Amino acid sequence: MDLHAVALVLLALITISTKMMMPFGYVGVAQDERKCQYLRPSRMLKIRCFNMDLKEVPQNLKSSVEILDLAFNRIKKLKRNSFERYTSVEILVLYENKIQSVEPGTFAQLTSLEEIDLSNNALVSIPLEIFQLPSLRNLYVDSNELFNLDRDLQALQTPIQAPLEYLNVADCGLTNLPNLGVLPKLWQINASTNPLTDLTMDTLANTCNLRTIDLTKTELSNCACQQVTRYLQYVGASVKFVPICVETLDNSICPDPYNITVGSTTFHDCKTEAELAKVLSSWRWWIIAAAVALTVLVFTWYCCRRNTKKRRKKKKAMKAKPKAIPLPAKQQPLVSPTLALKSHNDRTMLQDCDCA
Ligand SMILES: *[C@@H]1O[C@H](CO)[C@@H](O)[C@H](O)[C@H]1NC(C)=O
Ligand SMILES: *[C@@H]1O[C@H](CO)[C@@H](O)[C@H](O)[C@H]1NC(C)=O
Repeated sequence: MDLHAVALVLLALITISTKMMMPFGYVGVAQDERKCQYLRPSRMLKIRCFNMDLKEVPQNLKSSVEILDLAFNRIKKLKRNSFERYTSVEILVLYENKIQSVEPGTFAQLTSLEEIDLSNNALVSIPLEIFQLPSLRNLYVDSNELFNLDRDLQALQTPIQAPLEYLNVADCGLTNLPNLGVLPKLWQINASTNPLTDLTMDTLANTCNLRTIDLTKTELSNCACQQVTRYLQYVGASVKFVPICVETLDNSICPDPYNITVGSTTFHDCKTEAELAKVLSSWRWWIIAAAVALTVLVFTWYCCRRNTKKRRKKKKAMKAKPKAIPLPAKQQPLVSPTLALKSHNDRTMLQDCDCA
């Protein structure tokens, strides 16, 4: 057998063996059903560890994850280092777990976090650091018994840093709307299924851009119902999810709440802050555009100046030097002036010949 044949046989053997091993590889993956799924729904990396009996946040996932779905597990406690590796996460889904406690600092590093869903857990309060996340827009904490929330919120630093737009506190055993200070971007609150008996209208003054509030299945008094409805109508928000009030009360018994809502300094602060944010965001583009224009201008000016300088230098040099033989510079050292002159003459002669 020559070498060629040996090589062929070896190649055949390798091909067969890899083909035989392939199925084992697949079986290996299929057996491990408990693996988190890697998906790319848009351009974002989503990892889905849904319903896997997890007791802790897994630490072996790709750290560039942007959507992390840990719903339907048995996580009881979130620790300071639970999300330490996953600082790019923008959407964090933790609903249907058994979360009772959250160590301070657990969420603090998640500066890209825009949405967190902690609904259907065993929380008794909302970790205050959540309200200071600089990108957080949507917060779901519905279906937790938040009986320590009111007490804890007394220590909340306001105005909060989170640009909250959506808040779901449905079914949390709340007797009042949580007071989070001025919330200029909040446009939707879901507070349904709560025993909201002592609804203080002042809290609504914090939400000057409210468009919808769900107050179905609450225990609003007749007056509170009327006041909320009138307030929402006044600011042009939807009353679709406010229970229909049983009777119309006279203004002397149930005064319109405008002096504590739209007439209050809180409401004005909220409006001012919202306006400021709007102006800043439109100004941001103007500033960027101006910066780009300025850079282009400076660059053009610099180039022009350099070219003019070069040209001037050239002119000066031309004037200073006696008229040199107009030949390409690299030929000058090789050819003596007479020779050059000669060849130059030859060329013109040749050219003259061509023309003739
Ligand atoms: C408010 O939340 C409850 C419970 O999560 C939900 O059933 C309801 O549809 C929500 N309301 C709105 C207006 O989205
Ligand atoms: C708001 O108006 C009501 C009567 O309409 C009055 O009793 C109440 O004191 C006023 N509150 C404030 C803060 O001015």
